[in-house]
Amino acid sequence: MIKKCLFPVAGYGTRFLPATKSMPKEMLPVVNKPLVQYGVEEAMQAGMTNCAFVTGRGKRAIADHFDISYELEHQIAGSKKENLLSSIRDVIDQGVFTMVRQREMLGLGHAILTGEPLIGPEAFGVVLSDDLCINADGPGVLAQMVELYKQFRCSIVAVQEVPMEAISAYGVIAGECMRDGLYRVDSMVEKPSPETAPSNLAIIGRYILTPDIFDIIRNTEPGANGEVQITDALQTQAQTGCVMAYKFQGRRFDCGSVPGFVEATNHVYENIYRTDMA
Ligand code: UTP
Repeated sequence: MIKKCLFPVAGYGTRFLPATKSMPKEMLPVVNKPLVQYGVEEAMQAGMTNCAFVTGRGKRAIADHFDISYELEHQIAGSKKENLLSSIRDVIDQGVFTMVRQREMLGLGHAILTGEPLIGPEAFGVVLSDDLCINADGPGVLAQMVELYKQFRCSIVAVQEVPMEAISAYGVIAGECMRDGLYRVDSMVEKPSPETAPSNLAIIGRYILTPDIFDIIRNTEPGANGEVQITDALQTQAQTGCVMAYKFQGRRFDCGSVPGFVEATNHVYENIYRTDMA
């Protein structure tokens, strides 16, 4: 259905300095796997085997992670450690990985537009890998969204209820509730104050976008922080066409922040890593 997924990974990750001075934020490991691999595995589970990265300077480790490391593999071949590489080998075998560089960090909207040559005229997924999403009881968040896309054939954003005191960190939607957990978006606003926020439904880092979004981004003026905001482009798309918001099943950890990252690490260690190792 949807074969391509875009991974904007060009950001500086300043909240994790000095760890991210020379290492991409997306390579920070949650227990034994880098954040970006969780995102790629979620995309592949949703059928998106063509992974397109919008990278920047200092991000070469991401490209290397999705390539074979002959020397390392030769070294551990035949030993007990060989199986430690199996999860990434499976991902590499299933996928096609392409890269383009965003030369200037002009915002998420700009990063998505930079990925256009890798995507072309088809609907695609977007994963912000610093949001780690885990659904222990069923399909991943992107796979849930693909099911909705089959029905509605329009852009879909994943949303989560957040406390009002935290709302100003997010893009926020207002819309008509179609059924439990599904909204048709009327408007959306980036980083509103708690007083002006239209709801407590915050957009998190999972999207399905239809390709008309590229022209809309091209015609979107820079907004908050002088950056081209994807929220502003989606607001236009909601007004001229259709955007749905989906309250997903599962848990999302904000691994772009230190507390969220620590919470994710504890969760994965207790609920996934230890079980797998048992
Ligand atoms: P963030 O707002 O988390 O920014 O971007 P950041 O630079 O990664 O992190 P901090 O705030 O400095 O700690 C959200 C996502 O959008 C990507 C980032 O890589 C991240 O996945 N992004 C953002 C780009 O790829 N390009 C941009 O110009 C901006």
